Amino acid sequence: MTQDAGGYQDDPFVAQLYDQVIPYRDRPDVEFFVNFAQESGGPVLEVGCGTGRVLIPTARAGIPISGLDLSGHMLDICRQKLKDEPLEVQDQVTLIQGDMRDFSLGKTFSLVTTPFRPFQHLLTVEDQVSCLTSIRRHLEPGGALILDIFNPSLEAFTADNLGEEIGEEPEFTTPEGIKVLRFNKTISRDIVNQIIQVELIYYLTHPDGQKERLVHAFPLRYLFRFEAEHLLSRCGFEVKEVYADYQKNPLGFTYPGELIFVAHAC
Ligand SMILES: C[S@@+](CC[C@H](N)C(=O)[O-])C[C@H]1O[C@@H](n2cnc3c(N)ncnc32)[C@H](O)[C@@H]1O
Repeated sequence: MTQDAGGYQDDPFVAQLYDQVIPYRDRPDVEFFVNFAQESGGPVLEVGCGTGRVLIPTARAGIPISGLDLSGHMLDICRQKLKDEPLEVQDQVTLIQGDMRDFSLGKTFSLVTTPFRPFQHLLTVEDQVSCLTSIRRHLEPGGALILDIFNPSLEAFTADNLGEEIGEEPEFTTPEGIKVLRFNKTISRDIVNQIIQVELIYYLTHPDGQKERLVHAFPLRYLFRFEAEHLLSRCGFEVKEVYADYQKNPLGFTYPGELIFVAHAC
């Protein structure tokens, strides 16, 4: 267990800007996770809950939800946002700072979710097994895990763009009037260990014209479909569904798409 929380704890700027980044703000997965939470009846555990992007809408739907995250910065933002929610929403939420690789919360859940790939911050099979085993221990009999990771794109792994800043996103402006443009860069691809080293680069222009360049750097491990299925099976899960997107289209509907597993405790 060597790495930190995927760079989410290194510098508070990542958490402070997170909810304003357009692809995070507009990520089309919230309804998918809220619907599963409602069908489960709760309680739900979100592993790597971050700023509460999915957790708070789940609580608004009346479902008790616990959020586990290693980053105090991300949890601080989540707590601030919760203060603006009605008391009955706040009452549904429990936040815990802890490591998904090894946790004991003293209760069980009907559903555990991992929205937007926190699991890919685990870089070794040892950590992955430790995390899935901890999740399995926290599931009620018949409870389910939704493991949300990306489907590796073979084209992206061979693209000749290592070290280039690419993928300009729409600019956004923070409430303080700071204009932000973001790019991404792949620093390295370790195809033996299935780890890419990524940088998300934020160019800030402050209201007084001062410029700043901030970098969120982290390694990510990618998993292939059958590797993940074997891993889940090894840790006491039976895969019931594999989706390519949050509309529940089957894997293969789009490429690369996501790799979303609905796995039941067995
Ligand atoms: C991409 S964010 C996803 C946040 C949230 N689930 C969402 O959908 O917006 C990944 C989150 O995983 C958390 N994380 C990374 N490593 C972790 C670990 N070992 N234990 C718990 N949380 C971790 C990070 O702090 C971050 O909040």
